[in-house]
Amino acid sequence: MLQFLVKWTILLSLINQIFIENTNAMQAEENFEIKKNSLKTEKLHSGKYFGKPRDYWWNPDFLQLMGKRWQTQQVKSVLDVGCGVGHWGFLLKDILPKTTTLTGVDREPEWIKTAQERAQTENLAHRYTYTVGDVNQLPFEDSSFDMVTCQTLLIHVSNVKNSVLEMCRVLKPGGILVLIEPNNIGRTLSLSTLDMNTPMDDILEITRFQMLCERGKQALNEGYISIGDQLPGYLAEMKLEEIQVFISDKAKTFFPPYDSPEQEAIIQEIQEWSKKNFWIWDESETKRFYLAGGGDASLFEYYWEKALYRQNQRFLEGIEAHSYATSGGKLTYCISARKSN
Ligand SMILES: C[S@@+](CC[C@H](N)C(=O)[O-])C[C@H]1O[C@@H](n2cnc3c(N)ncnc32)[C@H](O)[C@@H]1O
Repeated sequence: MLQFLVKWTILLSLINQIFIENTNAMQAEENFEIKKNSLKTEKLHSGKYFGKPRDYWWNPDFLQLMGKRWQTQQVKSVLDVGCGVGHWGFLLKDILPKTTTLTGVDREPEWIKTAQERAQTENLAHRYTYTVGDVNQLPFEDSSFDMVTCQTLLIHVSNVKNSVLEMCRVLKPGGILVLIEPNNIGRTLSLSTLDMNTPMDDILEITRFQMLCERGKQALNEGYISIGDQLPGYLAEMKLEEIQVFISDKAKTFFPPYDSPEQEAIIQEIQEWSKKNFWIWDESETKRFYLAGGGDASLFEYYWEKALYRQNQRFLEGIEAHSYATSGGKLTYCISARKSN
């Protein structure tokens, strides 16, 4: 009897092991598929974010002030990491000496091609060059640039500390690191005239929904879209010097008759997003992040409809009725530090 029991126990443990190995293999395959898909959609998303409103992200006089604070007149070479189609780098030309060179690097060949074309059009091709590369393995020698910078790159990367360390590697001693990164959760509490009669719970529910998605995205190692708040701590850990943080003074203000070029561009973008049922991400991606963040699957549709309605239809209805107005606060951090000599 005892022998029989021992044999059964061994057999059961073998079956269990095979089951665990199969499950792990399936999980690994599934994770790989998710990663592959997310890389595909990441590109799509960046494309969505390169719309016209991006041209109005900064107040030019604020940028001049930041140029003084960062002492950009002493900068001879700049690296713009995750440059996309070049928006940030082109803005920087107004605060850099006329002879300064800028290198843009992005992992997407398509954006690099567009950035090169734009540099030609803007008569900057003799100073601005672009190349494909990954922030975690930058194709440059140590200590190559006076200034290394990025705008809304670190919100997309899985290991922010590694990425920042790699950016520091190519920075010259005494050079300046400039990181422009947001806290995106704050915008859910930036209210408008339409929120005055909205139940408090509705507003808090959307905030909770977005936080679940943000945390899920982070848990999947696909970046954290409110990373801005964490960066000064990382820079201190890395023993960088002269750490400074400012907040861009650009507000996303709306009031009737909504006829500024910026307001028109944003309305047009929201109209497009509304047609495509696009929120911060599309539905399937939002659901993936929400579930990974620990969201209750049975409540997803409820939250999704609310979030979409608040951002898209309700906004457009308010514009149509001339009843939508807001100061439009948002949190974009300008974080800088120097590499020690
Ligand atoms: C939101 S866009 C910002 C583009 C640009 N900095 C701007 O402000 O317009 C993020 C960019 O980072 C790029 N990116 C994402 N992960 C990257 C990585 N690991 N290495 C290099 N570029 C990356 C994307 O291809 C995309 O162009």
